[in-house]
Amino acid sequence: MEEGVCCVLFWAALVCVLVLLGLFIRADCDFTLQWAKTFGTKPDVALRGKVVWITGASGGIGEELAYQLAAAGARLVLSARREAALERVKQNCLERYTLEDKDVLVLPLDLLDRASHPEKTEAALRYFGNIDMLVNNGGRSQRGLFVDTDVEVYQSLMELNYLGTVSITKQVLPHMIRQGSGIIATVSSLAGLAGTPLATGYSASKHALQGFFNALRPELTGSPGITISMICPGPVVSQIVQNAFTEHVDKSLSSAGDQTHKMSTERCVQLMVAGLANQLKEMWISHQPFLLFVYVWQYMPTLAWYLTNKLGSKRVQNFKAGLDADSAYFTKMKAKTT
Ligand SMILES: NC(=O)c1ccc[n+]([C@@H]2O[C@H](COP(=O)([O-])OP(=O)(O)OC[C@H]3O[C@@H](n4cnc5c(N)ncnc54)[C@H](OP(=O)(O)O)[C@@H]3O)[C@@H](O)[C@H]2O)c1
Repeated sequence: MEEGVCCVLFWAALVCVLVLLGLFIRADCDFTLQWAKTFGTKPDVALRGKVVWITGASGGIGEELAYQLAAAGARLVLSARREAALERVKQNCLERYTLEDKDVLVLPLDLLDRASHPEKTEAALRYFGNIDMLVNNGGRSQRGLFVDTDVEVYQSLMELNYLGTVSITKQVLPHMIRQGSGIIATVSSLAGLAGTPLATGYSASKHALQGFFNALRPELTGSPGITISMICPGPVVSQIVQNAFTEHVDKSLSSAGDQTHKMSTERCVQLMVAGLANQLKEMWISHQPFLLFVYVWQYMPTLAWYLTNKLGSKRVQNFKAGLDADSAYFTKMKAKTT
C-alpha cells in the first residue's frame, strides 16, 4: 500500500478513536442505549396504548416513569404502599397528558405481602384485560458498614428487593406467556453489577435479581415475544437515600447529605423509556466515572477490584463524615447537610 494511503488511514483511525473517546467521556449510558435513544423507535410509537404496571410509582424514579410513559400514551397501573401519593401521581398524569381517568389504575400494593400478589395481578388484568409491561421498580437501598449491621437488615433487603420482585413476576409472566408477548423490566442498579461498599445487602439483592433474570431469560426462548430487561442506574436524584436501611431495621438515616451531584430523575427515566421502547435486554445508566467503572468491572475484573478498593475507601470515608456516600468523588469534605 502506498505511503500516502497509509497516512490517511492512520489519521482517519485516530480521529475515529478520539471522537469515540470524546463521546464516551460525555456519555451517561452504555453504547447500545445511546444508539437506541438516538436512532431507535421513539417511545410514543412503541408504547402508545400499552398497559404498563409500575411498582414503586409513588415517588422517585417510578413517579417520573409514570409521567414519561403517560406522555408516550401508555395506560398505567400504579402501585406502591402509599395510596394518597399514587392518587397524586395519577392526578398529575391526567392533568399534564392526554390520558383519561379510565387509563390509569391506582392499585396499592406491598411488595412484602406476597400472599396478596395473585389477587393484585387479577385486579390489574380484570381492569385492563392484559398487561404489556411490568416494571419492577419498588425497592430500598442501604447505608451502613457490614460489621455494624444486623442480619435482619439483610433479610429485609432480600425480602423486598429480591423476593418481592420475583413474586410479582411469578404472577405476571404466565399471563405474558399465554399472550405471547410482553416486557418484564426490572430496575436493578450498577450495584447489581459491581460491589458497592456501605450497601453490601443492597448490592447482594440486586446481584440476586441479575442472576435470577439472566437465568430466566433462556428459559423463555419458547416465547420469543417476551423481553427480560435489566435497568442498571448509577446514582440518581430520588428519596432513595432518605428511605435507605441503616444498621438496624427500624432506624432511619440521620442525614441523607447533598444529593444534587446525581443524575436527574428526568434524564435517567428518558434513557430508561428509550431502552424499553427498543426492548433492550440490559441498560447501564450513569454519569462518569461510574460508567467507566462498570465497563472496567465487566471487561477487566482485576483492575476493577483495585479501583473498587480505591473508590470504596473514599465512599466509606465520606459516609463517616456525614456526606452522601457518592459525593466523595466530586466534592471536598465539608460540614454535614440535612
Ligand atoms: N436513586 C438511585 O440512585 C438508584 C440507583 C440505582 C437503582 N435504583 C433503584 O430504583 C428503584 C426506585 O428507587 P428510587 O430511587 O426511586 O427510590 P425512592 O424515591 O425511595 O422510591 C422507592 C419506591 O419504592 C416503593 N416501595 C418501597 N417499599 C415498598 C414496598 N414494601 N412495597 C411496595 N413499594 C415499595 C416506594 O413507595 P411506598 O413507600 O409508597 O411503598 C417508592 O415508590 C429501586 O429499585 C432502587 O433500588 C435507584
